Amino acid sequence: MTHSVFTGGKQNRDLMVDKEKKIKRYSRVRKQLTELLSESDDSLARMATVIALLHHKMEGFFWTGYYFLHGDRLVVGPYQGPVACQELEKGKGVCWTAVNRDKTIVVEDVHKFPGHIACDARSESEIVVPVRDKKNKIVAVLDIDSTRHGNFDETDTAELEKIVEMIFY
Ligand code: SME
Repeated sequence: MTHSVFTGGKQNRDLMVDKEKKIKRYSRVRKQLTELLSESDDSLARMATVIALLHHKMEGFFWTGYYFLHGDRLVVGPYQGPVACQELEKGKGVCWTAVNRDKTIVVEDVHKFPGHIACDARSESEIVVPVRDKKNKIVAVLDIDSTRHGNFDETDTAELEKIVEMIFY
């Protein structure tokens, strides 16, 4: 009994520590982005910078990149990580779901997401965040895959939504 109470408490503390670490990392990334993005008004350059920073500064980001919404096509943009699908089958998978529902989608276990498109079999969890231009129109999605189960949560949603807002001005 004492042991199980102790274990439960420790797990909760560990989760809190992980969450705090994640928030601190995002805060450092946003600070760095503010400096770096002041160097160029080119949206493609800014998008690429966001990806490089996120991919190398955050923990567990296995594939980090964009799919551009070109008419009724989702076409890959700047990314870091293993080679990915260049175009996504229309209406299928997590990225199209984020576009169609007009909101961020967090997938704890990609194997349980109907129609998930696996560009790399090592991916276990995923988050997809719509990227909007200044007219609030979705022009792309930010897609991040992790080899860890359940790597993304409400902290990632809030932080990444703030970060994609930094691209266009
Ligand atoms: N899993 C995505 C496809 C893109 S890859 O993750 C890089 C999807 O289901 O839309």
